[in-house]
Formats: sequence, structure tokens, C-alpha cells
Amino acid sequence: MRDINKTDLEIPDFALVVLIGSTGSGKSTFAARHFLPTEIVSSDRCRELVCDDETNQDVSADAFELMRDIIGKRLKHRKLAVVDATNVRAADRKASIELARRWHALPVAIVLDPGVDVCVARNAKRPDRPFGAGVAQRMTMEIRKGLGGLQREGFRQVWKLGSEASIDAANVSRQPLWTDKRHDAGPFDIIGDVHGCAEELQVLLGKLGYSLTWSGHRGERSVVVSPPEGRKAVFVGDLVDRGPNTPDVLRIAMSMVAAGTAYCVQGNHERKLGRWLEGRKVVIAHGLQQTIDQLETQDRGLKEALPAFVDSLRSHVWLDGGRLAVAHAGLKEDMVGRGSGAVREFALYGETTGEIDEFG
Ligand code: CTP
Ligand code: MG
Repeated sequence: MRDINKTDLEIPDFALVVLIGSTGSGKSTFAARHFLPTEIVSSDRCRELVCDDETNQDVSADAFELMRDIIGKRLKHRKLAVVDATNVRAADRKASIELARRWHALPVAIVLDPGVDVCVARNAKRPDRPFGAGVAQRMTMEIRKGLGGLQREGFRQVWKLGSEASIDAANVSRQPLWTDKRHDAGPFDIIGDVHGCAEELQVLLGKLGYSLTWSGHRGERSVVVSPPEGRKAVFVGDLVDRGPNTPDVLRIAMSMVAAGTAYCVQGNHERKLGRWLEGRKVVIAHGLQQTIDQLETQDRGLKEALPAFVDSLRSHVWLDGGRLAVAHAGLKEDMVGRGSGAVREFALYGETTGEIDEFG
């Protein structure tokens, strides 16, 4: 859960935002303040669209079907959508989570809870909300009960605004996804699986016009890489394992990424190394043992910087005005520039059949 007192909500610029709040909590007001009218998909508005009466509960099933259709179309076109409905129970939120998954959008929950009294007092002034205090009371209690489970339901961000003041003070800003580097037009040199072959990598970079300057001594080396004017490298992952000198390959890639002269996406070997670095149980195979042995003899600097580097690697990188995407194993067109578990799996392993060969 995000910081409860934080009122600066940083959300991805491509997301499905699900507002969660009792009637009278201020969802529609909040939505109108922070989002475009075309981004907001409201259950009341959909009721109105199908029967001219936004309070007619008899058409709810059709109204919610229409909401899902609109949300699906927006997400398909990589447009942010905001669900303005009470979304009180997990069952009410399930369709949104499924739609976000289907279109590889990040599901974001924003919970508005100004307190029962505020909701009741506001609704008392609304001619179209004739129900008693019990409704806001019941909705608020149910929402509070479900708060702890929102992440488990699938929400990647959970923001809670727990007072009238924090709702009023809230500010929503949108960040490009980490994979979105469309502003960068290169030109790029795209470098495939290096697998610990530091010598060959240096020869290749040299041929491409990059110059490498090493300092320090064995085990405690560092390197500065100068690219040819305006060029950048993109490493497609699998820097590590199998080859004779994974540490130097990492030094080169890490130094270039830190200097902004290279991008690097995650390969399945980095995924596994990352899990090993976290102390998780992994099968040591496919060259991981070589990496572990080679790292053993290296300086602390590399070993200390490595977990953060491996953790920072993304499924893919989207470049050059959207014309270029780089992933380790592959990516379907409708996954480019999007984020979900399925995007990460596909980028790392491609289309897997479930079959395994004699080596597993
Ligand atoms: N309101 C207010 N001050 C706020 C927020 C809302 O006075 N800071 C008023 C609105 O003008 C409205 C009422 O409170 O008359 C309810 O706000 P609304 O945003 O419509 O609440 P919702 O959560 O959308 O309620 P519902 O679920 O019933 O649509
Ligand atoms: Mg409303």
C-alpha cells in the first residue's frame, strides 16, 4: 500500500484507474478534477446512456456491460480509463482487474474515504440520492474491510485518501511507463546475448566505434565507455552465465546504462541470477554456477551494485517514436509499451509450449 498520508499520486500514464468509495465520498468530483471527461467511465452515466435515467438500478447489468465495453476499447487503444463506480466489494472490482490484464494495463486503485458522516451529509443535499445513512455506512465499512486485500486482488498501486482534507489536497501526476523511451531516436546498436564473453564484447564494441577505458586492477576494475557521437547500445539481455568473464561484461553494461549510453532489458538468465541474489531457491544450471564462481573473486563494489542493476532491468524497451521495441525472447505487437505479468513472461521466454527437452 502506498503511503496513506501521501497526497501526490504518481500513476502510470497508461493505466486502468479504479475509484473506490461510498456514495457521497466524492468520486465523480475527484474524477472530474483530475481526469479528462473522455477518460472517465461512470456507472451513472452508462445507466443514463441506456435508459435516460442515471438512477435507474433496473438497468445496472446493461450499464456495467457498457462500461466494460468502453473500458476495453480505451485500453485496446492504449488510453487511460477511470472507473467511476462505488467498487465496494472485491467482486465489483474483478471485471476491472480482468480487463486490465487482458490489455496489459496497470490496475491502480484510488480509495476515497472521507468518513461516513461526510458522505451522509453530502448525500442529504442531493435530491437524486434519497436513501438513508445506512447505505454510506455499509459501503464504507465494506470498503475498509477489503483494503488490505487490494494488492492481492491484482492492483499494482493502491492509493488511500482517508480524509476530506487529503482528498481535497490530492494531486495526480502521470509518469511514462519505465519501458517507454519513445522520445529516444538513437541511432542504436542492438547487441544480443553476450553470455559472459567479455573479450568478444570488447572487440564488437571496438568495431562499432566505442572506446573503452579500464582503470583499477584485477577484480577491482572499472570501465568508462565512450560511444561514437550520438549512438547508444541496447543489450537484449542474457549478459550473464556460461562464458568465461561475466563480471567484466556486467561492468561494461552497468557502466554504460548508468552513463545513459546503453539500455539493457532483462533476459531469462538475469531473472534467475536476480532470484539467486535475493537468496531464493533456484536450480543452478545453464551456466549460473560459472557466474557465481566468477563473482566470488570480484570486488565488493560490483557485488554490491549488482542486485539493484538486475532488479532495474525491464521486460522490454520501446524506442524511436514507437517504431522500435527490443525484448529478449519476443513480444506480441499488442504487448509493446504495456505492462503485465504476461508481457514479462513473453518478453523473457517467448511463446512457450510447456514442452521441455532432455536438458529441462
Ligand atoms: N462534494 C462537495 N465537496 C467535495 C466533494 C463533493 O461538496 N469536496 C459534493 C458534490 O458536489 C456532490 C456530493 O458531494 O453533490 C457527492 O460528491 P460526488 O463526487 O458526486 O460523490 P460520488 O462518490 O460520486 O457519489 P455517488 O457514488 O453517489 O455517485
Ligand atoms: Mg458519482
